[in-house]
Amino acid sequence: MSRKVLVIGSGGREHAIVRQLALSEQEPSIFCAPGNPGTSKLATNVDLDIMASEAVVEFCKTNQIDLVIIGPEDPLIAGLADRLHKADFNVFGPGAMGARLEGDKEFSKEVLASAGVPTARYQAFSSSHAALKHLDTVSLPVVIKACGAAQGKGVAVCSNRNEAEEFIRACLDDQQFGVAGLRILMEECLFGPELSILIVTDGQDYCLLVPSRDHKRIGEGNTGPNTGGMGAFAPVKLAPSMYTEIDSRIVLPVLAELRRRDIPYRGVLYVGLMLTESGPQVLEFNCRFGDPETQVVLPLLRTDFLEMCYQTAIGKLGDFLQGIHEVEDVVPLDWPGAGASSWMRQAVVVVGASDGYPGQYIKGRPIDLPKELGDDRWVIHAGTAVSEDGAVVTNGGRVLGAVGTGMTLELAKDVAYNLLEKTHFEGLIYRRDIGESGGM
Ligand code: AMP
Ligand code: GLY
Repeated sequence: MSRKVLVIGSGGREHAIVRQLALSEQEPSIFCAPGNPGTSKLATNVDLDIMASEAVVEFCKTNQIDLVIIGPEDPLIAGLADRLHKADFNVFGPGAMGARLEGDKEFSKEVLASAGVPTARYQAFSSSHAALKHLDTVSLPVVIKACGAAQGKGVAVCSNRNEAEEFIRACLDDQQFGVAGLRILMEECLFGPELSILIVTDGQDYCLLVPSRDHKRIGEGNTGPNTGGMGAFAPVKLAPSMYTEIDSRIVLPVLAELRRRDIPYRGVLYVGLMLTESGPQVLEFNCRFGDPETQVVLPLLRTDFLEMCYQTAIGKLGDFLQGIHEVEDVVPLDWPGAGASSWMRQAVVVVGASDGYPGQYIKGRPIDLPKELGDDRWVIHAGTAVSEDGAVVTNGGRVLGAVGTGMTLELAKDVAYNLLEKTHFEGLIYRRDIGESGGM
């Protein structure tokens, strides 16, 4: 009988997860809660409140779900995986203890310090008075972060004192981020290209997926405010020694530290790095797949994604990895689990957003989707909905992602942009420099 999988979430990342599961030769039955119009074509969308863990458990019992993959951070941080484990379900996604790496930035700094992993120097504050006093002693730019999870809006890279003061007051005095901003980190600003590493791990064994780069700013040339991500590409090509360095100086010590602290971890640990002149340093952890990185990393898998997730969830990732053949050629052979991915192809996703994003934007505009899709091009839904008359309409800031793949980055970009040019809705905006070197 085919496996039954429940994917939790409703964004572009979850559509990409569902799409990759649907490619499995095992032909799983896929459910997605709550899903979006894109997932509805490949899975059964289920109207569940993903923060109501009892309702999720009930659904899994009624439908005899074999595997639950949790996409977003909020249910992970709230302990949905723990609740599902207690009811004996297999879960891809860490429990609350592991998810704290994303949910509490001060905790993640402590873990990094005990593991001896390079990261920016910082100080933590709960009072604006103390924070502002400390601000006088630091050099600019300075990075200020809400310690809790703030929907990707809790970080400000401040180039002058005014910006820093404003953000400190927004967090600690005006409580704009609620409890997530009641404690802040004031961090040294690092410089260099960024890199996202997705580690699939069952706590013992691990597999590194291809490195990717997300483009966070709204404007071309890396300008304007931060967004949830305006596009991404993978693999990012690195010098051979960099793979070894990332693995030995960052990944191995972090996973060892989690084991030392008895923190079980089955799922993806996302490590955000900055490649500084003095080597890679950790900017952040996420306890889940990145969005939009997932849209470009998963299509480069050449192994069965469902099986990888299932074996991770049951703690048998090591057995799964043994079955993986060695890699094509260019690959850094010492990158653990390198053979799980294809390194010869490239993938690019360009996000189509609503004008006004990341500020105010209009919802409900009809979308004209491209007709010519194929194995090298497809559209990932993020903020879309179906209107009462059955039309697909905009329903978010980041509306969709056009994905292109090819044997070179140029080809993959051409395919993705070509697809986006055939996509229409009023107010569609996108960056034209996704995948260009330096365009982070
Ligand atoms: P985070 O959510 O911690 O990844 O922060 C979001 C973004 O802020 C990162 O992707 C970086 O672009 C930037 N950032 C975070 N920490 C630093 C830092 N210490 N130095 C420079 N930029 C940073
Ligand atoms: N792309 C950054 C994130 O998923 O948090």
